[in-house]
Amino acid sequence: MTDTSFDLTGKVALLVGGGRGIGAGIAASLARAGADVVIADYDIGLAEESSAAIAAIGRRSGAIAVDVRHPDSVQAMVDAVEQQFGRLDIAVNNAGIVSIGSVGELAIDQWDDVMAINLRGVFLCCKAELALMRKNRFGRIINTSSIAGKVGFPDLSHYTASKFGVIGFTNAFAKEVAAEGITVNALCPGIVGTGMWRGETGLSGRWAQEGESEEESWARHQATLLPQGEAQTPEDMGQLAVFLASAPHVTGQAMAVDGGFSL
Ligand SMILES: NC(=O)c1ccc[n+]([C@@H]2O[C@H](COP(=O)([O-])OP(=O)(O)OC[C@H]3O[C@@H](n4cnc5c(N)ncnc54)[C@H](O)[C@@H]3O)[C@@H](O)[C@H]2O)c1
Repeated sequence: MTDTSFDLTGKVALLVGGGRGIGAGIAASLARAGADVVIADYDIGLAEESSAAIAAIGRRSGAIAVDVRHPDSVQAMVDAVEQQFGRLDIAVNNAGIVSIGSVGELAIDQWDDVMAINLRGVFLCCKAELALMRKNRFGRIINTSSIAGKVGFPDLSHYTASKFGVIGFTNAFAKEVAAEGITVNALCPGIVGTGMWRGETGLSGRWAQEGESEEESWARHQATLLPQGEAQTPEDMGQLAVFLASAPHVTGQAMAVDGGFSL
């Protein structure tokens, strides 16, 4: 019989790119549902802050430095989880970056950087995590895609391609491991006011129109892009992550939390 509770007590989760923003929010949601949560991030200072927040919730935690572009770094991260926690039940592969440019303007390096972190990084993490999950014939993998994984956005062709790639990869990988007790799903955030969107270097700052403040640009993007008219929060993403970490028979899906934007 299917266990329909959302109790993650006793589970060990790894949050890759969990130092801030959506990843930190998902980590806290998993911890509140009972999981111990290890935070891995490129920025070890951010990982330590996020890990301290998990400890404050009362769960075991740890902070690991990782660069998802490099297979050795990713393998060392998973080895550290095995050494310190002995198992891996839930992995959220959330590290991601964005940059802006039309196809005509985009530098090759911009394309390569986004692909290396957003798509190749997800593959490298899944590959290393799978080997550990297989030891217990149990796993819940959640890969962060985007609404840009479902619909193309101009000036984000490279980002859009990487996030479509995450959804295709997730669906194919889910089928490979479906009979091994391991589920693999993609989570597609809509618009969340993290460092990726906010401030002068975020998307709303860079997409501000002539005479428009960053704040006004942020309000306009929420109003024009999202049917509900308001941004989602890291906690909204955490709510879906807790569900996906619990559900035994949901796999290969790309589920959006976007206030009605996408299919
Ligand atoms: N904010 C949004 O509206 C939104 C919408 C759709 C999808 N997303 C996706 O959600 C995820 C999280 O985004 P966010 O908005 O919280 O952004 P963010 O910039 O606040 O957080 C991204 C995290 O990834 C880490 N990271 C970056 N490069 C890394 C690397 N090479 N190795 C390890 N960690 C690395 C960063 O240090 C940071 O902690 C990303 O995959 C992003 O594409 C965000």
